[in-house]
Amino acid sequence: MKKLWGGRFSKKTDSLVDDFNSSIRFDSRLYRCDIFGSIAHCEMLGKQGIIPKSDADLIVRTLGEILRDIEEGTVEFSAGAEDIHTNIESLLIERIGDVGKKLHTGRSRNDQVALDLRLYLRDECEKIYKHVKELINTLIDLAEKNIDVIMPGYTHLQKAQPVLFSHHLLAYCEMFIRDGERIRQCISRINVSPLGSGALAGTTYPLDRDFTASRLGMGSVTRNSIDAVSDRDFAIETCFVLSMIMMHISRLAEETILWSSGEFGFVELDDAYSTGSSIMPQKKNPDVAELARGKTGRVYGDLIALLTVMKGLPLAYNKDMQEDKEQVFDAVDTVLMTLPVFTKMLATMKIKKEKMKKEASGGFTNATDAADYLVKKGLPFRDAHRVIGEMVTYCIKAGKGIEELTLQEFKEFCDLFGEDIYSVVSLESCIDQRDVAGGTSTNQVKKAITNLRRL
Ligand code: ARG
Repeated sequence: MKKLWGGRFSKKTDSLVDDFNSSIRFDSRLYRCDIFGSIAHCEMLGKQGIIPKSDADLIVRTLGEILRDIEEGTVEFSAGAEDIHTNIESLLIERIGDVGKKLHTGRSRNDQVALDLRLYLRDECEKIYKHVKELINTLIDLAEKNIDVIMPGYTHLQKAQPVLFSHHLLAYCEMFIRDGERIRQCISRINVSPLGSGALAGTTYPLDRDFTASRLGMGSVTRNSIDAVSDRDFAIETCFVLSMIMMHISRLAEETILWSSGEFGFVELDDAYSTGSSIMPQKKNPDVAELARGKTGRVYGDLIALLTVMKGLPLAYNKDMQEDKEQVFDAVDTVLMTLPVFTKMLATMKIKKEKMKKEASGGFTNATDAADYLVKKGLPFRDAHRVIGEMVTYCIKAGKGIEELTLQEFKEFCDLFGEDIYSVVSLESCIDQRDVAGGTSTNQVKKAITNLRRL
């Protein structure tokens, strides 16, 4: 295929250079965005009288046909034509000759590629946003359905205080809601048109930049032409937002893996979302959760790679920036693959209520409540803490829980104890006494569910 920039060259490009330079094997997925961008640009050229209206119409129509042919699989891209932009322009010129050569008036591949990537990431981020919303809804459904399930809450992975399982799930909900907000903000910064920036300095033609932007559904145009062709913040930010989503998924994945182990036994994954072992017949493995945790690493890698590609680049465009695509595409693909399967795995898992409750009552998870009891009877908190600490040591030796002590035993540690201590240290009371805004009481968690549904 003839090079679009062949004019000043007297030798053919070495085929090694063609291979090295070419990005068509990974940027071909931008074909739709590239064609939509070209159509909007061309309509604007015609409207402004920069090229004859009839030429603009012919180009727009032919671009539509090229789009259709690509989607029907009848177009073969060529590595010799370097990238998706030159491939499509070459196809256009092949089909309509000299008229096709007018499309690139007032445009550079530098503003073109920035536009294409922005359009692509805008659409992918919208898809990701929808999947995050589905995950959030699944978590709220699970929380609502299991409102009576009590589990041990942990710090340092040591039993701490009982909490509602729903409260624990809604903690993840909050994280994913913030992730959703981050996607929306990221989209608002992505959805800005760089067209009109040319190679770096703007163009000499009377372009209507706002017209092109609005044809593409973009809210505004970039303010500085040099920035517009140099900036990949929007791609890096996308990778960051995706890394954050994966980090949250990974933590929930880690917990799911622990919960589904024989030792915890808090949940059982559905057969359709687990896998077996090729040698051990008894095994049922949480591969979906493990892969989600594992894939988090590659999305972080994409973010770090992109940051590193950009860190030393002088303004404006540099070919290094072609290396942005594989990273951000990989991050997007990974998240788009992970979210739906992870959500279904959660939606279908069985909650083992009795086991959770049993574990919630062991390990002195009611010790804070016993201390709070003494504080409410007038003892300073630090003293109450010491009394209960001594009591726990006694209980460990006696092989008893706090709630199993006789009133006589309680009184030996502190005479402020009365018959009412038993209701205070019951599991249900440990939960429902935490009726502070954002706390784990059934009342608060029900309120949280209602609020989240409204959100
Ligand atoms: N394939 C290039 C990229 O992805 C397109 C821009 C090329 N611009 C240039 N001046 N070589 O970055």
